[in-house]
Amino acid sequence: MKCVWVMMLFLHCSSALEERFQVVGPDAPVVGKLGSDVVLPCSVRRLADQSSLSAVDMYITWTRSGLGDALVHFYGDNKYLNARQSPDYRWRTALFKEELQNGNTSLSLSEVKAQDEGEYRCHVESDFWADQVYFNLKVEAVGERPVITLESYNSNQKSSVYCVSLKAGGLSLIFSG
Ligand SMILES: *[C@@H]1O[C@H](CO)[C@@H](O)[C@H](O)[C@H]1NC(C)=O
Repeated sequence: MKCVWVMMLFLHCSSALEERFQVVGPDAPVVGKLGSDVVLPCSVRRLADQSSLSAVDMYITWTRSGLGDALVHFYGDNKYLNARQSPDYRWRTALFKEELQNGNTSLSLSEVKAQDEGEYRCHVESDFWADQVYFNLKVEAVGERPVITLESYNSNQKSSVYCVSLKAGGLSLIFSG
């Protein structure tokens, strides 16, 4: 009888060992463009052989530096944690639900704001194991400052060209006179 118990314990432990995983993030800071959508990459892989495992039954917690107790996004059956999403991120975050079975726990963030910049943490927890990864999100504005260039100037003719770069996606207007 004792032997059966030991066998069961052994089987339980070895399957738990196989389920140990590592959380993997991006190699470099992620750059988001002001006003557009960005994917914050994160995934889980088995420590044993780097193969992918399903994250469907895991708890996925996305947080950002400077948010205090509030969360960027939470996935799992914990209602208390779900209620802790920061109002700054309401309606703007989503996981790729159909990708969870492949261990892809990336977060989609829409309508990126300047205040979204900071250090993000992707924390994934199962019944046996937990791991996390940190990385930075940088927010860039496209053509934020108008650039005015005086292409040519002749004191007699007063001819000049101005190039004005506007915020909306690198649109340039050229005036000459
Ligand atoms: C996760 O899925 C999203 C959406 O399909 C994709 O953009 C992203 O590259 C995937 N990430 C990984 C690590 O596979």
